[in-house]
Amino acid sequence: MVRIASAVVFSMFSVVLLILSFLSYVSIKKIYIFTAPKYSHATGMYMFHAGFRTQFALKFLDQSFIPLTTTEEMQSATEWKFNQTAIMQQREEISHYVDVPNNFSLTKDRVRVGQLMHYDYSSHKYVFAISGNFKSLLPDSSPILNKHYNMCAVVGNSGILTGSRCGPEIDKFNFIFRCNFAPTEIYHRDVGRKTNMTTFNPSILERYYNNLLTIQDRNNFLLRLKKLDGAILWIPAFFFHTSAPVTRTLIDFFIEHKDQLNVQLAFPGNIMHYINSYWKTKQLSPKRLSTGILMYTLASAMCEEVHLYGFWPFGWDPISGKGLPYHYFDKKGTKFTTKWQESHQLPAEFKLLHTLHTEGMVRLSVAPCA
Ligand SMILES: *[C@@H]1O[C@H](CO)[C@@H](O)[C@H](O)[C@H]1NC(C)=O
Ligand SMILES: *[C@@H]1O[C@H](CO)[C@@H](O)[C@H](O)[C@H]1NC(C)=O
Ligand SMILES: *[C@@H]1O[C@H](CO)[C@@H](O)[C@H](O)[C@H]1NC(C)=O
Repeated sequence: MVRIASAVVFSMFSVVLLILSFLSYVSIKKIYIFTAPKYSHATGMYMFHAGFRTQFALKFLDQSFIPLTTTEEMQSATEWKFNQTAIMQQREEISHYVDVPNNFSLTKDRVRVGQLMHYDYSSHKYVFAISGNFKSLLPDSSPILNKHYNMCAVVGNSGILTGSRCGPEIDKFNFIFRCNFAPTEIYHRDVGRKTNMTTFNPSILERYYNNLLTIQDRNNFLLRLKKLDGAILWIPAFFFHTSAPVTRTLIDFFIEHKDQLNVQLAFPGNIMHYINSYWKTKQLSPKRLSTGILMYTLASAMCEEVHLYGFWPFGWDPISGKGLPYHYFDKKGTKFTTKWQESHQLPAEFKLLHTLHTEGMVRLSVAPCA
């Protein structure tokens, strides 16, 4: 009896020992992850898992990587200057990978009815057959061919814009890029009213316009489009195969309302390969680049000076330290989401853009304007 009991106690003891050593192994690994010199790799590994650990890692890592001078440096606009030489060099470099004016949109003369399109981020087995209606919506030539703008603003959707009062400053730019049809009207004080181009992921129809199933949904969408007056709607319809049904709904809607609308439609083809290969040279190769950095890539080819607003992927304000929503248009009380971590590497993108800011290639604003 005594023998059996001591054997049981001994084996329990070994199990506990095993667990303890496993735990210490994990914590050593954790320390290694947190102090790993290559920030982007560390986040890539760690942030992949959603949930509590991620939140913790995000806070921990982000605050440690952002140089303490970031916000002060960014607030003192006086000393900061664009470096024309560096900008021209970057534009030249980008042009080796992406032909922005031509890759901006498919055009009527470059597709044929019945042609099968593939998707940038889906298996090659998925196809989309170009219809006559779709072809008729394509521009005759790229809407940005031979277009050059002096001062451009790319407005991201970060919650950092809330209360920024940057609207009037943003509205002064010659060309204003926005992301994913973000609302402006009721937020104009912080984000401005003007839009010259906005991306429109077809899934927006599903998410905000109920797939245009009711008369009310159709009217809401039509009203919103009418306000875009002359702007470019840039529709990445060939990134994900899951867009196909909404893309068809969208095509039908545009065919029906073409004459009532004054928007310029643009449909990029499979361009992500080119864009990715450029950013890879800057050691940025996430599963998917964000819409924000994609817009910055286009803008840097089209514009003399690019200013970024609303680029801040963290859940806290860099000045006050207070919590922030993810998007400036999120309903009050919406928690900061970390869903994007599965495919995007926003902190790594931000870090890179911040480097470009310090080198005078882009101006990154994170401070309030007034
Ligand atoms: C501007 O950029 C170029 C090229 O990167 C660099 O050689 C030069 O030193 C920069 N000028 C200033 C004033 O920072
Ligand atoms: C992108 O531009 C290159 C060079 O002009 C061209 O060969 C290619 O077909 C374009 N691809 C797309 C998808 O626009
Ligand atoms: C940009 O959009 C505004 C209105 O939103 C318009 O007044 C302005 O002319 C547009 N600029 C260009 C270059 O198209």
